[in-house]
Amino acid sequence: MMPGMTNEAPRVSLTGVKPTGAPHLGNYVGAIKPALELAGRYEARYFIADHHALTSVRDPEKVRHYTRSVAATWLAAGLDPQSVLFYKQSDVPETFELAWILSCVTGKGLMNRAHAYKAARDKNIEAGRQEIDAGINMGLYNYPILMAVDILIMGTTVVPVGQDQVQHVEYAADIAGSFNHLYGDSYRFTIPTAVTPEEENAKLLPGLDGRKMSKSYDNTIPLFCSEKELRKRVRKIITDSRGVEEAKDPESAALYLIYEQFATPAKAEELRKRLVAGEMGWGEAKDLLFEELNGQLGHLRARYDALMEPESELDGLLLAGAARARPIAQHTLRQVRRAVGIE
Ligand code: ADP
Ligand code: TRP
Repeated sequence: MMPGMTNEAPRVSLTGVKPTGAPHLGNYVGAIKPALELAGRYEARYFIADHHALTSVRDPEKVRHYTRSVAATWLAAGLDPQSVLFYKQSDVPETFELAWILSCVTGKGLMNRAHAYKAARDKNIEAGRQEIDAGINMGLYNYPILMAVDILIMGTTVVPVGQDQVQHVEYAADIAGSFNHLYGDSYRFTIPTAVTPEEENAKLLPGLDGRKMSKSYDNTIPLFCSEKELRKRVRKIITDSRGVEEAKDPESAALYLIYEQFATPAKAEELRKRLVAGEMGWGEAKDLLFEELNGQLGHLRARYDALMEPESELDGLLLAGAARARPIAQHTLRQVRRAVGIE
C-alpha cells in the first residue's frame, strides 16, 4: 500500500499545469495523456497553476491567454470535467493561507537546496556576480511550499509529474511530515508520492532538432495550431541526408520517434520497415506523419478553438470546478487552523 493511504481514503491523483506557453506534443505524450489515463483509476484533481506562472511570466495578457489555452487543451484532449475536478489555483484562495502556515514549519535550508533555486543561484555564481541571489524573486524561492500546499490541501495520494518535478513532490512529503510531527495529534496530512511517466515506460518526445521537445529550445510542434502551421513544423523536422533508396535508422530519427507515439503499432512497424529497407524518402515520411497528426488532432482542434472563443463555456467550467474544490480545501484548512491554534 502506498504511504499515507488507508483502505477507506479515496485515492486522489492531483497535478498542476503551469500556464507558461502553448502546450506541445511532448506535453501531450509525457503529461496530458498519462494523467488522463490515471484519472480512470483515481479520484482525479487537475488544476491550472496560474499563480506559479507569476514567478516568470510578467505580461498579464500572456498569463490570461496561456491559462485559458492550457485549460482548453486539457479539455479538448479528453479531460471530462464531470469526473475530474478541474479548476484554477487562483480560484481556491485557501491555498494562500495554508502556504503561510506551512512556511512556518518548513526549514529554510530545505528551500536553499531546491533544484530551481540552486540552478538560478549557480548561474549567478558562474557569471561571477557579486550578489548570488541577483534577479531571483521570492516567488521562485518559495515555489516548493506553494506546490506542497496545492498537493496537501486536496488530500493527495499520488502526483503524476515529469522527472523534473519529483523533488518538489518529495518536499511536499517532507513538509507534511514536519507538520504531522508537530501537530499530528490533532491533524495529519496524507503523505503524497510522485508518479512519473518514465516509470510507466513513456519516452521523452524529441523536438524538431532531435533534442527533447521543449518550449525552452523553441523546437516544438504545438498540439493545437492551424493545419498550415502543423504542416510547416513537420517539414522542419531535421533528418539525415540519406536518399530515398538508402537504408535509414528509424530509432535515431525524431520523425519516426514522434510517429511511433501517435500511430498504431502496426502503422509504426510498417514505416520502420520501409525506412530500414530504403523504400521511402524522408519527404514521404513527413507527409505520413503530418497526415497521422492532422487526422488525430483535427477534430480535437475544433473543440479547442471553440473553447478559446471569448464567451465560451470554458470559464464557467473552471468556476464550477473551483466550487467543488473549495469545500475540500476549506475542510483541510479548518482542521489545520484548529491544530495550530488559530480559529
Ligand atoms: P517544457 O520543457 O516545454 O517547458 P514543461 O517543463 O512545462 O515543458 O513540461 C510540462 C510537462 O510535460 C512535464 O510533466 C514534462 O515531463 C512533460 N514534457 C515536457 N516535454 C516533454 C517531452 N519532450 N517528452 C515527454 N514529456 C514532456
Ligand atoms: N511545478 C509544476 C510545474 O512546473 C506545476 C505545479 C504547481 C504542480 N503545483 C503543482 C504539479 C502541484 C503537481 C502538483 O510543472
